[in-house]
Amino acid sequence: MIARKLEVTYLPYDRTTRVPPGTTLFSAAHWIGLPIDSTCGGRGTCGKCKVRVINGRRDAETADHRQLRPSEIEDGWRLSCQTHIHEDMTCEVPALLRVPKAATMGLGRLVILDPNVRKVYFELAEPSMEDQRSDIARLKDALTAEGHDMIAGVAVLRTLPPVFREAGFRVTAVLAGENLVAVEPGDTTGDCYGVAFDVGTTTLVGTLMNLRTGMAASVLSTLNGQAPFGADVISRISHGMNGPEAIRELQDAVVTTMNSVLDDLYRETGVTPQQTYEAVVVGNVTMLHLLLGVDPTPLSMSPFTPAFMDQLNVEAREVGLHIHPHGYVQTLPALGAYVGADIVAGVLATGVVREDRLRVFVDVGTNGEIVLGSAQRALATAAPAGPAFEGSQIRCGMRATVGAIEGVTISDVIELQIIGGDVPAQGICGSGLVDAVAQLLLAGLLDHSGRLRLREDVPNHPLRDRLIDVDGVRAFLLADGVYLTQKDIRELQFAKGSIAAGIKVLMDILGVGPQDLDQVLLGGSFGSYLNPESAKIIGLVPAVDVDRIIAVGNSAGEGAKIALLSYRERQVAFELPSRIEYVELSGRPDFNDSFIGVLGFPQLAPVR
Ligand code: FES
Repeated sequence: MIARKLEVTYLPYDRTTRVPPGTTLFSAAHWIGLPIDSTCGGRGTCGKCKVRVINGRRDAETADHRQLRPSEIEDGWRLSCQTHIHEDMTCEVPALLRVPKAATMGLGRLVILDPNVRKVYFELAEPSMEDQRSDIARLKDALTAEGHDMIAGVAVLRTLPPVFREAGFRVTAVLAGENLVAVEPGDTTGDCYGVAFDVGTTTLVGTLMNLRTGMAASVLSTLNGQAPFGADVISRISHGMNGPEAIRELQDAVVTTMNSVLDDLYRETGVTPQQTYEAVVVGNVTMLHLLLGVDPTPLSMSPFTPAFMDQLNVEAREVGLHIHPHGYVQTLPALGAYVGADIVAGVLATGVVREDRLRVFVDVGTNGEIVLGSAQRALATAAPAGPAFEGSQIRCGMRATVGAIEGVTISDVIELQIIGGDVPAQGICGSGLVDAVAQLLLAGLLDHSGRLRLREDVPNHPLRDRLIDVDGVRAFLLADGVYLTQKDIRELQFAKGSIAAGIKVLMDILGVGPQDLDQVLLGGSFGSYLNPESAKIIGLVPAVDVDRIIAVGNSAGEGAKIALLSYRERQVAFELPSRIEYVELSGRPDFNDSFIGVLGFPQLAPVR
């Protein structure tokens, strides 16, 4: 059970948030997008984040004594990054010393540009007989004076003597958090990049970000090179069961794919690996296990326990990623075995769990990952949907590539939207399938139990000739050689029924109904292409007004970009597992009951 949330109010803005006990005042402010000054990113070394505690516990920590004057401590000023919330609190936030750069990202989120990677240019005093400090002490002293802590590994240390001397002690220090990544000759502060990766089971998207401007330099996507080992996570895990060599194969496949994306990004932009200091990577739990070469086998069997779910910070060369050799790879945490870092990134990008509005975020795919809630309380789950939405196990199903029917409109005639435009239809992809079924329902060619009608049932319907028989099974002809069978419709019913039942279970736990939902957010590579109206007609999502159903695009990729651009937002992502309650659906009788209840289609269709 999650501990009672505590309330914090920030004056003079009069902004209030509720957070789990132990959260810092600094982090809690960022939950509600309230910027507090900082150059150290919450490490207690810059002294810029002070707030005055008006109500609530205000024990002074060592860092407070180091950074603040005794009179300030006496007056209640504390470093907000060091002050943990253990009871309801009120504090006063001073005006910002500098106006932070901010960018709108994700679903209208205003993100303050404050990357974990920082570059600082120094003109250091040259050594002399009077000043015999070591190279590293010279740099550390300069960084400390600017409010930065620093840890240097031996690999970077090796580079110091030549760089310092060749550059006449005019150097730029590159920090990722407090890790010294590089010391570069001269002032290189203008060139600072990072990469955000969304590693999907099918598709991988990489965005090279300029960390100074917050703008994307370029974005590329490609198919995950693990595809030859199977289309879904279960077949990848099955391959991994062949032993360490097989896990290495899977790891090599995904790292090679990421590196090919990086090489193309570098080629396109002229940015170099040496200027790219950090990668933020999100993906489902299996993808992150395989990326790091960790055996995912236990994920495939009850009780579904992964080797790790927390965020990890790993040296890039340990992963084999083509960024700066001393750069870092940061992953985001997962909420459960089947609600991974991609969903955490989606929650970050959409701001669900930060606002008072009640929203449900659904990532529709082989699994339907669902997060329902608001700043008050939030729940997450994964509903097994099977491969129907991906176009698999559908007689004429195919991936969303050229030739796939992606949209269907049925009136007296049938209109098809085909990927690639003016090309013959070769099959139907997930969004086309959902559209087709919704339109058949509306046209009265399919009843609400999911049964295709026979020609004799609809003698006057202009499309009755398209009701055909394929190998003794009822079907509807969409285009030459492309049809939808009764069995396909059943597959879709199971897939949407599972997700709809998952949403219903979470709504029942929160004690809310569709009328209470402010928004339904459809995310993921498939969900974003769904026609919201069709999703509602087939009952995949709760019955809310269509204008409250919103496709949010690649929310996982957006979340990864946000975590790359803002150290503070990254902290928010790290805290999400403690703010969202995970609900396991398997074995829950209410899930099975709801599933049966939502297998059919809502009675919305006017029957001819
Ligand atoms: S001391 Fe730097 S953010 Fe708190």
